[in-house]
Parts: sequence; structure tokens; C-alpha cells
Amino acid sequence: MSDKTWDGRFSDKTDPSVEAFTSSIDIDKRLYSCDIEGSIAHCRMLAEKSIITKEDASVLIKGLDDIKEEIEKGKFKFDDSMEDIHMHIETALVQKVGKVALKLHTARSRNDQVALDVRMYLRQETLSIIKLTTGLRKALVELAETNLDVILPGYTHMQRAQPVLLSHHLMAYYEMFLRDAQRFNDSLKRVNVMPLGSAALAGTTYPIDREYTAELLDFPKVSANSIDAVSDRDFIIEFLSSASLCMVHFSRLSEELILWSSSEFAFIELSDSFATGSSIMPQKKNPDVPELVRGKTGRVFGDLMAMLSMMKSLPLSYNRDMQEDKVVLFDAVDILKACINIYIKMLPELKINKEIMKKAASEGFLNATDMADYLAVRGMPFREAHACAGKAVRYALDKEKELHELSTKELQSFSSIIKEDIFKFLDTNEMINRRKSGGGTAPKNVKAAIKKAKKDLEKETQRLST
Ligand code: ARG
Repeated sequence: MSDKTWDGRFSDKTDPSVEAFTSSIDIDKRLYSCDIEGSIAHCRMLAEKSIITKEDASVLIKGLDDIKEEIEKGKFKFDDSMEDIHMHIETALVQKVGKVALKLHTARSRNDQVALDVRMYLRQETLSIIKLTTGLRKALVELAETNLDVILPGYTHMQRAQPVLLSHHLMAYYEMFLRDAQRFNDSLKRVNVMPLGSAALAGTTYPIDREYTAELLDFPKVSANSIDAVSDRDFIIEFLSSASLCMVHFSRLSEELILWSSSEFAFIELSDSFATGSSIMPQKKNPDVPELVRGKTGRVFGDLMAMLSMMKSLPLSYNRDMQEDKVVLFDAVDILKACINIYIKMLPELKINKEIMKKAASEGFLNATDMADYLAVRGMPFREAHACAGKAVRYALDKEKELHELSTKELQSFSSIIKEDIFKFLDTNEMINRRKSGGGTAPKNVKAAIKKAKKDLEKETQRLST
């Protein structure tokens, strides 16, 4: 017979193929420090409530600390026959301190243990992701600040629409990633709930003190229902959905960088250290980093879908299906962190082709709205002014000219309201300066937004470092 902790009712050995199939150690070994920390707190609580003796507790805690050290030094042996990280640590503890180790699992089940471990792991990772997004937002703000004089066409329907400041465009991404950080922060409330003490599903007969365990592990709250506590994976789904949304933002930014670095746009150039070449076409400089970020977005969505499908229709309470949760959770955490890190490094390296952007912003009738505005401000109803500017565009198209390249006389043929001062209205810089409405692209607004962002980031960095 093998020496599994649960094999009392078994007369045959587990088939090795089943051991390999059910094992999750390759994945869940990354939970080792949460598992050990959780066990130590559990042990302290058991001793505090005299469920085990203080002496036994010290032996167990010392043993657990030693195991942690062994894992950290790479001296620990992992193997499929012991299923998961919980079994590995418990078995190692028996080998280390003898039979007393068997007391550790009093008033606990792997069902509440794994729920605890994943919650501890996720709150740690969520905090580190929030910190990373601060760095990312900082990189965006810095890029916006150093390029305050850069104008490019803003697009709708992928058609040139109106000129905007590049800084304004970059600060749009700042807002998206800010919302991401807020979403992650909000989700922490629901991660930070302590499930231990729910045992297998029904609670335990021992006189445990769950609040004490929660206090030791820095959880502000304990779970209210033992069945829910061992079955709930909402907090993982919530994380994956926030991660997916954050990846949506990354994929949009990536797509723009890919387009902008093509010869068709040539708005930007990626630095050599953040681009790769082609093995066949010597002239190529490929935007692989943004492309891969765009590609990895699909994987994170897949992780979310896998998790939703896994939980759909799953009867209460714990089911082994749920062991698969860690595969997708860890995958998404790794991808998201890698994407944020690489963007923090890549953004400051972008080469901005200011002249090409500006030229693109002054071609293609981006000042047509402003011509309509000019007429409307001088008394023509806006709809009429729109039609009038439209006619002027049609005329200029035929002449192969821009609106501001027409003569005053030509412009006056569309309305006698038009005077010499219209050219000021049609000037790209002036167009930007005039968009002073709150949240608009006028430099004054954008500078204020950058200033506020810098202040907020400073406060946030301070808060996160304490
Ligand atoms: N490895 C399992 C998981 O990740 C731990 C819980 C197993 N519980 C059980 N009764 N088999 O979900």
C-alpha cells in the first residue's frame, strides 16, 4: 500500500496513470509559501484554543519553516504521487517531525485550505499588479509630458477626424489603465475573505476561532457560509474579467502602435532594442512586442472563458473540477504582469515622428468642422453651416486643395459671412487651442490632466509603498 493520507479505506494502490492525471503539483507548487503561512496560522489558532498543545504547535511551526527554506533553496523534491502542494508539505512534515505532524490537519480540509491559499496568493498578486500599473501610467504620463507639442489626426471610423494632441491621446490610455487599477483594487474586498474553518463543506466540530486565524493572516473578514466558502471561485472569475479588460486596453494600444509604425503611417518608430528583424527580408523591422501583447490578449480571454465554463452548473460544494482554476489563474497573472513590464520599458523608447503626424493632421479636411463652427458662431444655424462647409470640401476636393489653401474669395462664394479671419479658424494649432471644453484636447486642459495625474501617481506610490 502507498502511504497516502487518505488511503485508509482503500485496499488497492492508485494506478500510476491516475496519479499522473490527478496531480496538480507542477501548477500549484507556486502556492507553497501561502500554504505554509496558512498552516502556521491554523496551528497557532489550534494551540490558542487548546485543540493541540503549545509544544506540538512549536514543533509543527518549526518544521513548516524548515520546509519553506528547503523549497526556497531548491532542495525539496516534488513528485506526482502526492497530488498537490498541500499533500507534499504535510508528507514532508511527517518525515521531518514525526507523527505529531498528523495533528496539523485537525479541523481543516484541503477544500478550505486550497481556497485560503488561492485567496492569499491572489491578493498578493493583485497588489503587485496594481503597483505595476502605477509604473505603466507613469510611463504614459511622462511620454505625454515630453510630447506636449505633438499634433496628430484623431480618428473616428479609422478616418481622420479632427486634430488632437498626442499627449491627449496618450492620456486616454492613462484613464483606461487607471480604471483597471481601480477595478483590481475594488475586487480585493471580495478576495480578502478568510475561508478556513469551513473544513470539507459543513464546518467543524472543534471549538476553533476563525476570527483569530483571520487576524493572524491579515484578513478583515471571515466567510459567512461554509458551503459557499469551499465552492466559491467568483473572486477568480472577477480577477480574470478585470485582467481581460486590462488586456483589451493593451490590445488597443498595441494595435495603434503597430499601425503607427507601418510605413503607411510612419507616425512612430520602435527603438531597435524593442523590435525584431525578419529572417528573410532584410529591410524589415517588426513590432513583435505589441503584436505579442495583442496576441496574448486572446489567451487571457480564454482563461476567463475556461473559468466561467468550469464553474457553470457545478453543483455545490467542492468538486475536483475546480483544481483546474489555478492553471488559468496563474496563466493570466503571468501574462498580465509580463505585458505591463514590457510596456513600461518600451514606451519611453518610442521615437515620435512629429512632422509626419503634424502633416497628417493638416491634410484631409480635418478643419471642416471648424469652418462650420466659424459660420455657426457668426449666426448661421449649425445644420446649415455643416452643409455649407460640406460644399466647400466638395469644391476643394475638385481643385485638389485643402480648405485653408482656398482663397478668401473662393471661400466667400459659399457664404458672405466669411471674412479674412476664417484662416485663423482653419489653422491646426488654433483648432486645438479652441477645444477648451472640459476633457477636450486644448493644451491647457491636457497640461492640467498631466499635472493631476502626476500628483495622483505620487500619492498612490506613497500609499502602495507603506
Ligand atoms: N488540489 C486540490 C485543488 O486544487 C485541493 C483540494 C482537493 N480536495 C479534495 N478533496 N480532493 O482543488
